[in-house]
Amino acid sequence: MFRVTVPATSANMGSGYDSIGIALNLYNTFFMEESDTIDISSTHGDDVPTDESNLIYQCAKKIYDICGKPLPGMKIVEDCAIPQTRGLGSSSACTVAGILGANAMLGNPLDQQNILDLAATIEGHPDNSTPAILGGFCAALLEYGKVWSVRVPIADKVNFVAFIPDFELSTEKARAAIPGTIPHHDAVFNLSRAALLAGSLVTGDLKNIGVAVGDCLHQPYRFGLIPQGEEVVKSAKGLGALGAFISGAGPTIIAMVDKADKTYFSRAQMYFAERFPNWMPMLLHCDEVGAVVTQE
Ligand code: HSE
Repeated sequence: MFRVTVPATSANMGSGYDSIGIALNLYNTFFMEESDTIDISSTHGDDVPTDESNLIYQCAKKIYDICGKPLPGMKIVEDCAIPQTRGLGSSSACTVAGILGANAMLGNPLDQQNILDLAATIEGHPDNSTPAILGGFCAALLEYGKVWSVRVPIADKVNFVAFIPDFELSTEKARAAIPGTIPHHDAVFNLSRAALLAGSLVTGDLKNIGVAVGDCLHQPYRFGLIPQGEEVVKSAKGLGALGAFISGAGPTIIAMVDKADKTYFSRAQMYFAERFPNWMPMLLHCDEVGAVVTQE
């Protein structure tokens, strides 16, 4: 049986819409092996699809098809900590797990570039799938079926506090809210900030973060779909975060916090318990490892 562990990811980070993402230390683990039947279950009794519609199974099947191998069935046990449909890359984690699990079962015919390309093509969001595979902070784009990406080491100076609401927002709905065209100065606004964000994370120049996460390409259009979202961003910053943004397509909000601020998380927990009880604060760090496959 193969064990596949995949980290959560936060795409966009404000200014880097559809371009950058970071892996976080919250994980889904999947146990997978070939079987005569489709046998899918979850360790916590979560409501997961148990038939051919299961995303992990579908991705694994796709890899078998590409490799010209029949897949009679598969046993999958899911142990999921990444909340679903919250903007933390849960579907990306399933896609990556299906690909990596199938690749392992087939004796590793795919190399890492094949895996990056297939994950982004199947999932549609290289800014999630790439850091889910590689870990760390990544810039990634998908062009004609190929991922062009870089994993950039960042200064160990920032914590990530996720504020996870008790409601979901589908990526499809969140993308439909974004206009098809934007003014040139909006593009420049984000380009300049995304470049500043990447550079500042690498050098650890934390004073730039607040400005660097600024965005006018997606968040202004998405806040309307996230009740209390703007207030949560303001409160997260008011509590002392360097900057805050919608994680991926939302609705989770992530605050970037100076690691030197040792009490931010407890302050946030107290404040949110009183003011935003349906938003759960979670203290996270950058995952440096990415997806891992082991045989048990
Ligand atoms: N960059 C994508 C978006 C990520 O914001 O829609 C989706 O997970």
